[in-house]
Amino acid sequence: MERKASEMGMNRTGIKTSPVESAKEIEGAEKRGATSIGDATAIARVRQEFAREVGNFGSVPPPTAKGMVKAAVDLLKGGRATVFIDKLGQRAGFERTGVRLYEAALSKLDVFGTWEGGPSRVELEKIRLDELAHFALVVRTIEQLGGDATALTPAAELQANMSEGVPRMLVDPHVNLLQSLEGLLTAELVDNASWELLIELAEQLGHTEIAEQFQRALDVEQEHLALVRSWISTGTMLEARVGEEAAGAPA
Ligand SMILES: [Fe+2]
Ligand SMILES: [Fe+2]
Repeated sequence: MERKASEMGMNRTGIKTSPVESAKEIEGAEKRGATSIGDATAIARVRQEFAREVGNFGSVPPPTAKGMVKAAVDLLKGGRATVFIDKLGQRAGFERTGVRLYEAALSKLDVFGTWEGGPSRVELEKIRLDELAHFALVVRTIEQLGGDATALTPAAELQANMSEGVPRMLVDPHVNLLQSLEGLLTAELVDNASWELLIELAEQLGHTEIAEQFQRALDVEQEHLALVRSWISTGTMLEARVGEEAAGAPA
């Protein structure tokens, strides 16, 4: 199915589609001036007042009885287990969402097909399963540390709020496969940086075995990132008809 993102059409969002009317608009705005006094400093003041008044962005749930022992050990080492649990909760949520992102990308593939150098069904399905395996790994780790893997931790909620546009874009029926890969790129970049931080944290807290398992997850995430980048690159070059004729250009 053919649907190129760069197709030329009747886009009227720019003011240059109507030089006469846009000149009047600019003149009117200049004549009228600002609708309120002051500048952005008033908004900044309100923001700061709110920030001082409100409490924390959620909290980390207390560990289970089994986890109390682990937490105490971490405290002895000078670490705070709650930070680790918070970040693990964040990873769990994001990896789980990652599974859904690749499911959405698979739907795009079924409708629009792929291109030379683009993602195959086997590759997308493999990454989907990797994300699922990572989610399971994080859940096991949280439970091993005596945490509750079903709890939404502050870091998990922050990341979910921040990245909610990615799944929304991927399930938008207007979006084609090549466009949807931009969402996967955002997710994979975050994946890579987040696993790196988790490994560092696990090592610092003395969880050597966990750090080693996480390193294997990071290795896999690096492969994901490289693949997504190359798919976007080949798809974009084909659409721009860089080099050869655009035979097999992404739809
Ligand atoms: Fe991931
Ligand atoms: Fe990934």
